[in-house]
Amino acid sequence: MPGATAYFGLMNLLEPKKGDKLILNGAAGAVGSVVGQLAKIHGCEVIAFVGDDSKLDWCKNELGFDHVFNYKKVDFSEVIQRVAPDGCELFFDNVGGNWYHTIINKHLKKYGKAALCGSIENYNDKEVKLYPSTNNSILSKELRIQGIIVNTFAKDWPKAFTEMNQYIREGKLKVKETTYEGFENMRSAFYGLFKGENTGKAIIKA
Ligand SMILES: NC(=O)c1ccc[n+]([C@@H]2O[C@H](COP(=O)([O-])OP(=O)(O)OC[C@H]3O[C@@H](n4cnc5c(N)ncnc54)[C@H](OP(=O)(O)O)[C@@H]3O)[C@@H](O)[C@H]2O)c1
Repeated sequence: MPGATAYFGLMNLLEPKKGDKLILNGAAGAVGSVVGQLAKIHGCEVIAFVGDDSKLDWCKNELGFDHVFNYKKVDFSEVIQRVAPDGCELFFDNVGGNWYHTIINKHLKKYGKAALCGSIENYNDKEVKLYPSTNNSILSKELRIQGIIVNTFAKDWPKAFTEMNQYIREGKLKVKETTYEGFENMRSAFYGLFKGENTGKAIIKA
């Protein structure tokens, strides 16, 4: 399911082209790690964000993302400005909140596209926050912003899996799982998602 989310979010919503610059958060997660690798296969320059240094190392040295940053150690907007001073074409958002707000306002180019996949920064908000200042940027830059519900593409999943299986066999696509032993650890595994304890897909082995 996360692989299908990555595939359709990138291919159907963002339609990557060679040379496009893609901003990606949650880049070492189950969805993000596949998005970044597919984007590389399609010739994009990937600017990726993760929450710890071992994830940074994996994304940079094994997955081959072009620029990888630990967002807990840098100001994400400052480093995007440094590596892409003229802006970016694409944004795949797994986090929402201030990322969504800042990247749409400051870092997407005219006619840029954003795929809204997850909003983990907001899932536990007690009140609904409104981000009206993005509206003007969406309008003036004529951006395309679209949400994805992976089940919408259910009938095309086999096509996506056939293509991605081929990439896995060719060594172009790598996957990682974080396995928790025992059904009784379900609670801590779930909370771990919000603390960045998993790399790739979090799995509970019962
Ligand atoms: N739209 C759909 O159909 C669909 C389908 C599947 C998943 N999703 C959503 O897509 C997103 C990614 O899913 P996934 O399965 O690949 O999850 P995941 O990335 O494996 O797990 C969550 C990761 O998010 C990062 N994170 C947590 N809180 C954060 C914060 N406040 N700011 C920045 N990063 C934070 C953590 O990594 P770090 O160490 O890097 O912080 C954590 O490991 C989730 O939001 C999920 O709900 C949507």
